This record gives sequence, structure tokens and C-alpha cells, in this order.
Amino acid sequence: MPASRRYHITTFGCQMNKADSERMAGILEDMGFTWEEEPNAADLIIYNTCTIRDNAEQKVYSYLGRQAKRKQEDPHLTLVVAGCVAQQEGEQLLRRVPELDLVMGPQHANRLGELLEQVFSGSQVVATEPVHIMEDITKPRRDSTVTAWVNVIYGCNERCTYCVVPNVRGVEQSRPPEAIREEMVELGRQGYKEVTLLGQNIDAYGRDLPGVTPEGRHQHTLTDLLYTVHDVPGIERIRFATSHPRYFTERLIRACAELPKVCEHFHIPFQSGDNEVLKAMGRGYTQEKYRRIIEIIRSYMPDAAISADAIVGFPGETESQFENTLKLVDEIGFDQLNTAAYSPRPGTPAALWESQLSEEVKSDRLQRLNHLVATKAAERSQRYLGRVEEVLVEAQNEKNPDQVMGRTRSNRLTFFPGDIQTLQGKLVPVLITEARAFSLSGHLLGESTRLDASSAAAVLP
Ligand code: SAH
Ligand code: SF4
Ligand code: F3S
Repeated sequence: MPASRRYHITTFGCQMNKADSERMAGILEDMGFTWEEEPNAADLIIYNTCTIRDNAEQKVYSYLGRQAKRKQEDPHLTLVVAGCVAQQEGEQLLRRVPELDLVMGPQHANRLGELLEQVFSGSQVVATEPVHIMEDITKPRRDSTVTAWVNVIYGCNERCTYCVVPNVRGVEQSRPPEAIREEMVELGRQGYKEVTLLGQNIDAYGRDLPGVTPEGRHQHTLTDLLYTVHDVPGIERIRFATSHPRYFTERLIRACAELPKVCEHFHIPFQSGDNEVLKAMGRGYTQEKYRRIIEIIRSYMPDAAISADAIVGFPGETESQFENTLKLVDEIGFDQLNTAAYSPRPGTPAALWESQLSEEVKSDRLQRLNHLVATKAAERSQRYLGRVEEVLVEAQNEKNPDQVMGRTRSNRLTFFPGDIQTLQGKLVPVLITEARAFSLSGHLLGESTRLDASSAAAVLP
């Protein structure tokens, strides 16, 4: 065990990884470590890695190289690679970076303590075997005091032909509803206001839990879970991600419309607007089915925000197939879309196909799609102008300390003048006066409206 105990974690990748980092930080603090902002001053460094695309993976190696050098001068440094690159590369990582002390896959995040004990007693450890994920026994050290992530299902049983996630995150493992509720009750007690329920394919929640209803469906579905947790005291907003169009049901949509705490924002990746490409991706739905889901959502909640992910330049994608993606984006009108050029990943079927497209074609399509996304999002944003939105205040605006930032129920980032000390964690009405593609600005209503609203200082409570 190092004499001085300062740790640093750098996190790459998705919300699942961020949630894992918070749990690992909690374990380290239980062990007596304290957070160190500057990696070069830390005694223990964890890179919690992502391998969804090649550039995400390469980033890790450049960071690691620097710390491996530092370790040659300071052998007391403990170097850990966690997350999805660790799972993918396993032992090979030790060959590539022999300075590493611990390589641990995402399923082992909750075991960090015992793995480190092995390291401190002199071993170099690789933990990548599939395990039954232990119920969270540690208290995470959460980055926010207002919003929190709660894992509901780990892993993914889908086999999308481009995707590494099932290889690195393993099979689906749902947490029992009582454990999820308990974690949320504790969060409510601590003053948290918003919870995002997390899973790579959250609509699969409960498939692996025992129990079938008399009608023959699984007893514990995401819809049932929403009913189980929606009355947790203190928690005012509930979100969930990521949804898979194949499993998105009208029953779920109805529950979202019915339950006041569930926010009207849906993240449902479609990946491609072309049926042939969707088939080659192994997604299991058509673009018509996707459009139908959005229609049903909007029939229950006309103002719902819709976001998604899309991939361009999948092997064999023709220009006209790509144009079907543009057409879908143009017609649906997404509030936000994460776009990516296809990146061949080790161990996935599509990486081996001969129909790979050139980097030029992929980046040209990506640019064209991004341009359309920005235009459509800016159009969608206009509907907020002049409206009063409920904003949950999260933090100070990093670029302007006189402003605070928060989100609308629809997840639009919103900035307005105010004092973070008095506003943090509060749900407040904000009049929207400015709308950009992906964010809004406005001013606080309430007490402030009695003041001279033309001066920014006057809207401070
Ligand atoms: N479970 C989610 C997405 C998980 S990965 C779903 O089913 O949609 C997050 C996003 O990364 C995906 O939605 C996809 O758009 C992108 N992605 C995954 N693999 C990729 C690859 N090989 N190349 C480019 N983008 C990829
Ligand atoms: Fe990957 Fe498909 Fe699973 Fe999403 S559903 S994590 S894209 S395999
Ligand atoms: Fe990346 Fe792993 Fe998430 S590959 S996107 S960190 S599940």
C-alpha cells in the first residue's frame, strides 16, 4: 500500500463507464485514498477506458504511455486500466505496457478493493473473467450533488454486427427492483433531485429476472420498474437510457406519459434510416417501425424531446442508403443526434467484411449529416422561445460565473443569471429568451420578475 494515498481517475466513454468510475472512487475513498485533480501528482491512477471506436482506444494508449514513463522514475505509482479496453485486451495490455499493475474489465468495478489488495501484496493482476456482478456494496463518490446515475441492467445480449459492447460488457444482468429502489431512496435522502436509470439496452431490463405474469410477460419490465420507483421521496425527475427500438413498447410510452416524474425525453438510437443497412447491422427493426415509435410517443406527449445515435459509412452503405438516413433525420426532427463514422472493431462481424468504405467517403457523409443535424436542432430549439421552462439547476456556468446552468425536463442545457449557492438543486421557472441549436438562455421568473428584468444583476434572487 503506498504511503501517500492520492488517486486520480480519467474516464472515457459512456455514462455506464462514468457510473463505474464513481463507484470505484467510492471504494478508494473507503480505503483512505483522497481525490487528486492532477494526474501527475497522484499515487494511483485509473484509466477507465472505452473501445467503442478506434480513436477512443488510441487515446488511452497515449495517456498510458506518459504514465508508464513516470512509473519508471517513481515505482510507487500504481497504474490501473479498467473498463472496456481492459476487457478487450486483457493480458495483451501487460505485454504492451508492462508497467501496469492492474487490468480489470467493467464487470469487476465493484471488486476494485480486493484486486488492489492483491496488487499491494506484490502481484500484477488481470481480472477479465465473466462474473456475476455483486450488488453495489460501496457508496459511490458522485460527481454531482443534484443528479445521479443508477445502474439497472449491466451488459447486452444483442449482437449488432458493428458493436464491441456485448464482448466487453458481457451478458445482461438486471439488478433486483428492490435494490434499485433502495439506492434511489438513499439518493432522495441525500438531497438528489434527478435520477437517470442506466443500461446499454435498458428496455431489456428484467428479462433475466425470475417471474412471469398470468398474461405470460416478464414480471419485472422497465415499465414496472418506473411504477416501482416513481414515488421515491425527494426525487423529482426520472430519466432512462439507452432505449432499443426493437423493445420500445406502447405500454412504456403510456407509463412515461402517466408518471409525472418521468421526463419527456427519449434517447432511442436508430443507427441508419435504410432497411438494408439496418438488416446488415442486425438491429431487428425497420425505419418504418422506428418512425411509428416516434409517432406514438408524440401522440401521447406532443412536445417530447427525441435524441438518438446514428452511424454513417457502415460497410457497403451506398450513397442512396446514406440519403435515407438524411431523409429520416430531416423528417423526424431530432432535438439531438450523436453521429459517428463507422469504425471497424476487433471481434465484430462487420469488421471482417470486404465492403469497407474509404475514410474520405465516411468523413464526407459524417459532415453532411452533422450539418443537417445542427440545422434541424436549431429549428427544434425555436419552440422554446418565449416559453417558461422548469429548469433543475445543476452547477455554475463554467464560462460565466454570474450564470448557472441546468436542464429542462426535455434535457436542453439552459443558462441564466443567478447565484449557484442559493439555486443549486432547485427546480425553477425560467423564461427562455434565446435558443441555440443545443442550448437555451433565459432568466429566472418569480421574485425576480418584480425587479427590473432588463438588467442581468436584477434577476439574481
Ligand atoms: N446500446 C446503444 C448504444 C451503445 S454504443 C444502442 O443499442 O444503440 C453507443 C453508440 O456508439 C451507438 O449507438 C453507435 O451509434 C456508436 N457505435 C457503436 N459501435 C460503433 C462502431 N463500430 N463505429 C461507429 N460507431 C459505433
Ligand atoms: Fe451494441 Fe447493439 Fe448492444 Fe447497443 S444494442 S450495446 S449497439 S450490441
Ligand atoms: Fe465505450 Fe464501453 Fe461504454 S466501449 S461506450 S465505455 S460500454
